[in-house]
Amino acid sequence: GQRRDELKARIRALLQRENAVLVAHYYVDAELQELADETGGCVADSLEMARFGRDHAASTLVVAGVRFMGETAKILSPEKRVLMPDLDATCSLDLGCPLDEFSAFCDAHPDRTVVVYANTSAAVKARADWAVTSAIALDIVADLHARGEKILWAPDRHLGAYVQSQTGADMLMWQGSCLVHDEFKGIELELLRAEHPQAKVLVHPESPPAVVDQADVVGSTAQMIKAARELDATHFIVATDQGLLHKMRLAAPGKIFIAAPTAGGSATCKSCAHCPWMAMNGLENLAGCLERGTGEILLDPALGRQARRPIDRMLDFAA
Ligand code: 13P
Ligand code: SF4
Repeated sequence: GQRRDELKARIRALLQRENAVLVAHYYVDAELQELADETGGCVADSLEMARFGRDHAASTLVVAGVRFMGETAKILSPEKRVLMPDLDATCSLDLGCPLDEFSAFCDAHPDRTVVVYANTSAAVKARADWAVTSAIALDIVADLHARGEKILWAPDRHLGAYVQSQTGADMLMWQGSCLVHDEFKGIELELLRAEHPQAKVLVHPESPPAVVDQADVVGSTAQMIKAARELDATHFIVATDQGLLHKMRLAAPGKIFIAAPTAGGSATCKSCAHCPWMAMNGLENLAGCLERGTGEILLDPALGRQARRPIDRMLDFAA
């Protein structure tokens, strides 16, 4: 309505006033994704968000996503101000991998190369040799494996199991999971596929093996959109956060996207896969952080420099 249009106009003006750019993830509300697109910001997977923020000339980055994405932006651009609509937007993978326990795990296995998923705190990254996102985990681990390295992997056990199955690498795993993707179930997916035998199945690798095993394409959010555009099919079943369907429908008009079912689904909402922390980003708190300079990511510079090394390695590998 009118109130939302006014809010959006205010955000556009504030982005200009603050020399700020909006860096959004595909899982945030469609309205925020649209604002990011319209104002010269980006809507992307976590790898592209990192690169975009680092390379953009704005002095303030507003990260609409979850905490680790804001931290990564700050690590890569310590000279920029990084704001988030809500600093409490975290991630179950980050929460499930506290620094002290993670450090003890690393200390117990000094012969292993430490590879952490981007969905971790700056402090955990500072302890790692490599950071990876879902878009590039497979390539990096394959390369390390080819060089004979044994890997300590944290925290997502499903992504880890997928990478292990594809590369054959020796991986010792932390047992974390994403509470959103962990809800997708193999049996329900089989039933849905039987209803739509012509559909291709796109799966984010944070999903359990019983779901990943049924995929035509496994990939990051950006890679799933690419597959939706390029695959010669009219119907797709998509196992990831609902937020991604918005962008998929824009990217591949005329194609039909069906959300994969979650165990917690009901008669009215067969699939409610939506990250509660991504959902904490809204127009109100986005305007608020720009207006008042709240929600700033502050990182100890020494920690930031230490955490930057594994991220730079990833970005250099990707380049
Ligand atoms: P992507 O890197 O695929 O965008 O994933 C980030 C994330 O948090 C998925 O749940
Ligand atoms: Fe973390 Fe899962 Fe939310 Fe992504 S969807 S931010 S992995 S809890």
